[in-house]
Amino acid sequence: MSEKTLALSSKLPGSGLSIFAVMSKMAVDYSAINLSQGFPDFNCSDELISLVNKYQRKGFNQYAPMPGAPALREKIAAKINTLYNKEYNYETEITVTAGATQALFTAITAFINKGDEAIIIEPAYDSYAPVVIMSGGIPKFVSMRSDFSFDWDSVKDAITEQTKMLIINSPHNPTGCILSESDIKILEEITRKKNIILLSDEVYEHIIFDGKKHLSLCQSDELSQKTLLISSFGKTYHTTGWKVGYCAAPKLLTDEFRKIHQFIVFAVNTPVQYAYAEYMNEPKHYLSLESFYQRKRDLLLSSLNNSGFNFTPAKGTYFQLLDYSDMSDKNDMDFSISLIKEVGVAVIPLSPFCTIDKSRKIIRVCFAKKDEVLLEAAEKLCAI
Ligand SMILES: Cc1ncc(COP(=O)(O)O)c(C=O)c1O
Repeated sequence: MSEKTLALSSKLPGSGLSIFAVMSKMAVDYSAINLSQGFPDFNCSDELISLVNKYQRKGFNQYAPMPGAPALREKIAAKINTLYNKEYNYETEITVTAGATQALFTAITAFINKGDEAIIIEPAYDSYAPVVIMSGGIPKFVSMRSDFSFDWDSVKDAITEQTKMLIINSPHNPTGCILSESDIKILEEITRKKNIILLSDEVYEHIIFDGKKHLSLCQSDELSQKTLLISSFGKTYHTTGWKVGYCAAPKLLTDEFRKIHQFIVFAVNTPVQYAYAEYMNEPKHYLSLESFYQRKRDLLLSSLNNSGFNFTPAKGTYFQLLDYSDMSDKNDMDFSISLIKEVGVAVIPLSPFCTIDKSRKIIRVCFAKKDEVLLEAAEKLCAI
């Protein structure tokens, strides 16, 4: 059959190369400092690498159990219990996944059917909407307020009989905003007695600043009944390339989640799971993350004090938004391209995270970078 006779029907006709891939390629092409993609430019701990090696040598190299290594699921359940005072049964309510991305894919695929609506609050991480569409569902986008706080009135207005899922992300990529106690209370009210599943993307749960504490949806008895809590070891242990995460959810939801999970990956990297399980014996490995990244955020922001950017310090995540409206009339894509070509710093424009308001003059930078890289980038950004 010649290529011309292939009649393809794309599941995602509107999707192209992600903005992260575009900007990272340009960073290489123009030898720019890459603050665009969201991963550390420093290594994970030697101890963790040795633990993976240890389990590989001990023969932990075949398929792990479908829901995940029991030792790791036990540790995840214990951590959630300690931090959020919520008990999950590790046998029936915790599933280890190939990163948060697979957990999100599995959760949306498990619960969104043809014609179902999923509410997505934007700016939004780019993994949610395509999976809703692939499942035959309809993404209903709702904008955050201009100060990037959650606009619950708009969320409430977007709820219909068809709404099956509400996707929440806190700490939030790309804005760095976090849920407050009052957000949780409102969320309880607006979803009460509604057949709506909450998909809570909490991959940055351990990266939160200025003495604030992460509020997980599982801390609310009411919300935890309908929540799939997703997290990722990649963000927590500087190991984004290992792609291991998890989903914690009540048995009713986990049963459906696992039906899909077993046919996507079945099981996840065995030695890495056992290594994480042992590494989690030391809570300081995740508890120290707040001060580690707060120092980097503060270093970046103090170095940008003399720049033309306006900013509100991120409350969580390793991303910082910078408003350049006092510096240029360019749209955010053109401004980002000029930063790469003329200034030598690669960033991400905000508009690809949005469908409703693409007009904001804001860029996102990642500060999970070595201090000297942050300082060099800041110097270049101050010279504009
Ligand atoms: C908000 C959010 N959710 C999920 C993910 C994906 O996590 P993982 O690398 O574990 O698949 C990311 C990664 O950048 C993210 O920022």
